[in-house]
Amino acid sequence: MTRPEKNSEAPLDNASLDPSDWSHFKARAHEALDLVLSHIEGVRDKPVWQPPSADAVSYFSQALPANARPMADILAKVGDYVVPFATGNLHPRFMGWVHGAGTPFGLIGDLIAAGLNLNCGGRNHVGIEIERQIVQWTQEAFGYPETASGLFVTGSSMANFLATIIAKTRAIGVQARAQGLMDVGRPLIAYTSSEAHSCIAQALELSGIGSINLRRIPVDSLRRMRVDELDRAIIADQKSGAQPFMVVGTAGTVNTGAIDPLDDIAVVAERHGLWFHVDGAIGALAMLSAKMKPKFSGLEKSHSIALDFHKWGHVPYDAGFLLVKDHTAHKQAFSQPAAYLQRYGDGLAAGETWPCDLGIDLSRGCRALKTWMTISALGTDRIASSIEHTCALARYLATLVDKSDRFFLKSPVALNIVCFGVRDAGPDAVRDIVTKLQLSGIAAPSWTMLDGELVVRCAIVNHRTIAADIDIFWEALNRFAAE
Ligand SMILES: Cc1ncc(COP(=O)(O)O)c(C=O)c1O
Repeated sequence: MTRPEKNSEAPLDNASLDPSDWSHFKARAHEALDLVLSHIEGVRDKPVWQPPSADAVSYFSQALPANARPMADILAKVGDYVVPFATGNLHPRFMGWVHGAGTPFGLIGDLIAAGLNLNCGGRNHVGIEIERQIVQWTQEAFGYPETASGLFVTGSSMANFLATIIAKTRAIGVQARAQGLMDVGRPLIAYTSSEAHSCIAQALELSGIGSINLRRIPVDSLRRMRVDELDRAIIADQKSGAQPFMVVGTAGTVNTGAIDPLDDIAVVAERHGLWFHVDGAIGALAMLSAKMKPKFSGLEKSHSIALDFHKWGHVPYDAGFLLVKDHTAHKQAFSQPAAYLQRYGDGLAAGETWPCDLGIDLSRGCRALKTWMTISALGTDRIASSIEHTCALARYLATLVDKSDRFFLKSPVALNIVCFGVRDAGPDAVRDIVTKLQLSGIAAPSWTMLDGELVVRCAIVNHRTIAADIDIFWEALNRFAAE
């Protein structure tokens, strides 16, 4: 391209941050892609996890560099000090917490989104259209109407928080956005089960309502919310002059994967005029499986759903999502007039509703492309099969536990999470066994507390996990427990 003649008063054009030699850079970029793809391809033969080496820790403790370093050197350090010391959730025997494993398809989507540097807070560009496509797909998957709105967020912690704000705004009116809670006069009360994730209480805290106003409803023997207790609690609060406003059901609890009776909760919420939100962080994507869908009956009756494409959907982190049935209620809770964000019928400022009208973030990356790429490249049938397979593996592990003299199942397996105790052993022994497994590189379970007891917790999320991995884990577990 020819450049206009330079004005002598103009500054020198030497500030670009692009590579000075594109072909050299492209070669390094291809090497980087090969490095990460080869790592994924061979991940089964590597340790599940290892702590960052002393060299890695010291390498990442350097002073701020004023001068450039060659890409080849930087990549060599990434190979030595980054790749081997990641979380481990790519590995088929990573079973800790609830972590997605990612896929190479999502990786490419993320790479392209980063390359195009899409800012998806708003404006008229294709990133917004891809996000709309995902909104449409989630409407279809969860039985929501075409008028429902949706938004990518970091994760379900954020999605649950945004849902709380929407429910609060609907309950006390849009004017409360300016006035706060001062004029409400009576406490707003939310309800969830005693097994709900801690982010629900946090959402109440951050919303200004206060977690003291969250009623933790007891659960039944399958660790599902007791709807009779929910009804009783709402009536008691109404009688005392409080204002019940929201009930949060969980589709896959963090401890055991239990699914609350969503149909029954919907009835109670409707009867008392409460916002019914579902925390589907762990389980909601199982709706893609025709076999598993009946377990989630009633999900479609909710007012909003939080879910994570980065868990069972294996979209690379992060890809949380909020779906809201009433688009107006959603927008009223967040949209802000701002001169510099005015819309127009044409040009880059076109589009009535932008993602920034539906949440807190104005600058936001394109989580939609990696999600679209993952779903497009795999199809929902294949994702559903991998979800079903992880549940089958969890049931297999549960049978091994059941037959063993050393361990005992602590809770029924509802989805893909298996919690078990160690006979005649205290919490220190559980911590010791789990930590030894992690340090050995053979497998990485985690732990949780159930009924006041520390237990081993295996969340089988990974699409790469096969039955032989469960056998390898089981053998090592027994060996460490025997020591
Ligand atoms: C039931 C449940 N809700 C919410 C969350 C929080 O989700 P995120 O980690 O995506 O913020 C989790 C995390 O595991 C969860 O299990």
